Amino acid sequence: MFSKKKKAGALPPGKYRMGGKHFKNDAAFIKTAVQDVKRLEKYCGLTKDSRLLDWGCGAGRLAVGVRERFADDGGRIADYHGVDVQQELIDWANQNLAGPGFRFTCVDVSNERYNPDGTPERTLATEPGSVDVFYAYSVFSHMNDEDTPAYLKLIHEALAPGGRAFVTCFVEEDVPGWEENPEGYGPLEWKGRLHCTRFARWHFEDHVNGVRLAVDRFEYGRETDGQSLYVLRRR
Ligand SMILES: C[S@@+](CC[C@H](N)C(=O)[O-])C[C@H]1O[C@@H](n2cnc3c(N)ncnc32)[C@H](O)[C@@H]1O
Repeated sequence: MFSKKKKAGALPPGKYRMGGKHFKNDAAFIKTAVQDVKRLEKYCGLTKDSRLLDWGCGAGRLAVGVRERFADDGGRIADYHGVDVQQELIDWANQNLAGPGFRFTCVDVSNERYNPDGTPERTLATEPGSVDVFYAYSVFSHMNDEDTPAYLKLIHEALAPGGRAFVTCFVEEDVPGWEENPEGYGPLEWKGRLHCTRFARWHFEDHVNGVRLAVDRFEYGRETDGQSLYVLRRR
């Protein structure tokens, strides 16, 4: 459990890039996290014995959901590991959320929006075959078309037998294979590098198939700003 000293206080100030204006307050932030944990149970088989990798974890929204949802099991699962490129958010998560069953790692890898000066050497900061449930919410929605298949390959390697990956991204039919900040698309005016990256559905699924992953579930357009949900597994 979390010590009193480490109990999560106010969420980190808005200057760090995480989820835009989608989380109106702390209660809404926690509610979305608990809902996602329930979906991970239903779609990906998450249990208290799972090893969960939250890639692009931001300040650890999902960790708060895990703590709430598994309150009857000591407020933890076997391993929650949050990984992100933004040092300030990982520092906050380490100070406020880390404890038995919960850990956070900062990786200094490049993403043109979130960490433009990072190294080009991609990593998920995990061992091959060690992840039962992989979660990447609104991460492929800010990713270029070279990083995307490379990270999908790393996801394939990271998944344990029977493991599942829950990822969201913008996909549409009848659009170019990959586009950055497509004009007139979605609810926002996209600004700056990789604010919105949109894939043609065939193109994203070609990337998935190309690394020997398979689509277990697809739900169109119901996630943040109209993203779609994919549940992936190894082929
Ligand atoms: C829109 S935020 C989503 C945060 C979180 N998943 C959530 O739903 O609350 C995207 C996150 O992905 C992280 N990110 C982008 N590229 C990454 C990479 N290559 N490795 C790890 N994290 C990355 C960003 O730093 C940012 O925190």
